[in-house]
Amino acid sequence: MTADELKRLAAARALEEVRDGMIVGLGTGSTARHFVELLGERVRAGLSVTGIPTSEATRADAERCGVPLGDVDAVVRLDLTVDGADEIDPELRLIKGGGGALLREKVIASASNRMIVIADESKWVKTLGAFALPIEVVPFGIAATGAAVTQALRVCGAAGPFALRQTRDGHAFVTDGGHWILDARLGRIDHPERLAASLNAIPGVVEHGLFLDLATAVILAGADGIRFVER
Ligand code: A5P
Repeated sequence: MTADELKRLAAARALEEVRDGMIVGLGTGSTARHFVELLGERVRAGLSVTGIPTSEATRADAERCGVPLGDVDAVVRLDLTVDGADEIDPELRLIKGGGGALLREKVIASASNRMIVIADESKWVKTLGAFALPIEVVPFGIAATGAAVTQALRVCGAAGPFALRQTRDGHAFVTDGGHWILDARLGRIDHPERLAASLNAIPGVVEHGLFLDLATAVILAGADGIRFVER
């Protein structure tokens, strides 16, 4: 089975957790897109849900698939968010943001009663950090913020180079919120909580891709079938 087929299997399993009338956060990325497509099929078959997209890309996917969308600015709590991840460790800590939607993804996950992560088994790791950690920053004062990020990484024993994420034509990648992303290649992150706190303390850092204490369950699709791992 290909990785894409595994992603779709995980998405299909997550659909079983959706109930009529729920407000559902819709993640971003190739795995989350499978979920949105399958949810659209269920809506066409009569399911009633309100989707809250975590990116403009997902909003477009949801509209294409006929998933009714709610007003994010009016929603206080969501029943469930289903999203992908770039890495997942055994404590269900995540690295997210490979697709650049980490800020909205974290806002929506934090406002959700449950966050179910869907992934193929390649995303399961013993230690976070092989995937470059996305750090969303405001463009204003980028040099000072970069220096503060370097210091925070060093203090947390996660030193490594970072680079401004760029588009194919060499411009800075701009997030849906109008920010830039620094991708930090750390190799391994031994103290994710310490690193998260240090990054959160830098004024120019808007968010980072460490999702700690947010995922309530992970659906992992692999060659041996599907694992449902709960915290
Ligand atoms: C989007 O910003 C990310 O957090 C994605 O959820 C993550 O990169 C997983 O993407 P894939 O499902 O495409 O691997």
